[in-house]
Amino acid sequence: MQLNDQQLAASRFKSGIASVLAVPGAGKTLTMTNRIANLIHEHHVPPETILALTFTRNAAKSMKDKLRSIINSTSSRVTLSTIHAWAMWLLKEEGKTFDLLHGKEQLRFIREIMKKHKIKISPRIILRDINLAKNNLISPADMREMNQEDFIMQKVAEVYEAYENEKKKKFLMDFNDLLSEANSLLQNNPSIREKYQELFQHVLVDEYQVRRLVV
Ligand SMILES: Nc1ncnc2c1ncn2[C@@H]1O[C@H](COP(=O)(O)OP(=O)(O)OP(=O)(O)O)[C@@H](O)[C@H]1O
Ligand SMILES: [Mg+2]
Repeated sequence: MQLNDQQLAASRFKSGIASVLAVPGAGKTLTMTNRIANLIHEHHVPPETILALTFTRNAAKSMKDKLRSIINSTSSRVTLSTIHAWAMWLLKEEGKTFDLLHGKEQLRFIREIMKKHKIKISPRIILRDINLAKNNLISPADMREMNQEDFIMQKVAEVYEAYENEKKKKFLMDFNDLLSEANSLLQNNPSIREKYQELFQHVLVDEYQVRRLVV
């Protein structure tokens, strides 16, 4: 496959910080895959020092397949993962003990809390509000403060607080916690951060999401 000039330039970039912005389907994943191949073949970077992160499992799989078709067996030595799976690996690697709370279990968990607090709102809506708040680093206290006149949001904040406390007590983490816990682990522990900076010299991110609170 012939890359166009822009794709070629991005795929040949060796080190430093680079950002590729392009419309859907423009060839970002293809370019990133070629860049990994170039790092290994042209710049002689050890595949073990490359970390490639995607957002969805599908994207991770499609990149794995593409990479295999370009550099075959060497591709398995590159760490290619979703951001959540990698955060989970990092936390376990550093000795954190927890179980993952997701899917039906998470809904059941939140339903129990709501029952205790006698709150009748859809658990899915509550979870959506909690996720949105956590993604914007809004604590239960902030949520209460920001919605003083809103009875429903006061209730959501109550469930949010209880949800966080119950999870901690039971050594559970949800998908959001994986990212925030991995982030604080790296941010607050220079020696741990340096270990992974040493290990992964080239970090490539295929997709990321910025979630904003709509008010
Ligand atoms: N230069 C090219 N020549 C031929 N095909 C290309 C070229 N660039 C991209 N494509 C093809 O276009 C399709 C989309 O590419 P790719 O998945 O890399 O885009 P993307 O920007 O990552 O898309 P998305 O935004 O959906 O993630 C793929 O089938 C890819 O092989
Ligand atoms: Mg893509």
